[in-house]
Amino acid sequence: MSTPHIAAKKPCLVTLKRKGKAYFWCQCGLSKSQPFCDGSHNGTGFEPLIYKAQKDGEEVLFCACKQTKNPPFCDGSHNALDDSYEEASPEDIAASASLPIIPPDEKGKAVLDGGCYVVTPTKTTAHHVGGWQIRPVIAGRDGARFLSQFLLQPGPDAQALTVEGSEMVLFLNQGSAHITIGGKIFKAGPQTGFYVRPGEGFHARSLSDTPIELSCVICPTGPEPTPLDTMPDIFDDRIPQRMMAMDPAKRQTMADRFYQVLVGEDMGSKQVTQFIGEIPRSRAAAHRHLYEEAITILSGEGFMWTENARAAVKPGDVIFLPKKQLHSLECTSESGMRLMGAFYPAGSPAINY
Ligand code: FES
Repeated sequence: MSTPHIAAKKPCLVTLKRKGKAYFWCQCGLSKSQPFCDGSHNGTGFEPLIYKAQKDGEEVLFCACKQTKNPPFCDGSHNALDDSYEEASPEDIAASASLPIIPPDEKGKAVLDGGCYVVTPTKTTAHHVGGWQIRPVIAGRDGARFLSQFLLQPGPDAQALTVEGSEMVLFLNQGSAHITIGGKIFKAGPQTGFYVRPGEGFHARSLSDTPIELSCVICPTGPEPTPLDTMPDIFDDRIPQRMMAMDPAKRQTMADRFYQVLVGEDMGSKQVTQFIGEIPRSRAAAHRHLYEEAITILSGEGFMWTENARAAVKPGDVIFLPKKQLHSLECTSESGMRLMGAFYPAGSPAINY
């Protein structure tokens, strides 16, 4: 036996009991006790991999397809095993056909199951601080436990902004701009991501008549960015690269869809991963993530589904997705859907269960 058997095309969520306890992860794929070894590897040339729990009650997604490059953990490789991403079955589609479409309330928010919601940021109440227009989109009062999101528009006299003790991940939604981080200037076009380290400040200036708009995700969740009289003279030179635009060479393919990480561990982000993804006209099979996520729809329309309801989504809308919430994002546009996601804890957007 030279290649492992594909035991399943989804990882196994397991809770490990005690810190230091050894677990034997099946590498051959033949075990009937996935993801753990039951001795079926005898004579195959495969051996189980030993993993010791890092803490009491550690929750892990162990690979069951045995194609991961980061054993014993799922790294999302299971998504590339078929030509198309796993879609909702005809039975699931028929069973959910009568589920209600939740209309947005007067603040543009449609609340689904488990605290998941879709919000149209332009319907939320804006206020002005330090020359910026700020719209809170995701905050602790909305049920977010790990991240906050704000929509920011700088005026001509906008001051530098900072957040004490948190990482910030920015995304230039529209326009071209000079984004200044701690005295370093980055010239960027639309749909570009930026990483701001704790203690650093940032500033944005439009390079054209088009107003610019930034999505700002803060992690750990906290209050909105505060204005500063002067840009702090702080820039972590160990991480000089803070900007990432879309680059076809950096795309990761998942069957008929792809994603590109803009800000992640490679850029030094300890807590948040920011990515751009594209999905074709389709409805993914319902799944969950071990992370809390904020998703901004950049193009295309469709529906966000949870167990008992759905809400329409369109460009500009933001979806708040709590950790472990069962969901499915459906794209109904012929030309597909592009989205920007940011989630905590940092990792791969391909990992689901
Ligand atoms: S289950 Fe194997 S990589 Fe996800």
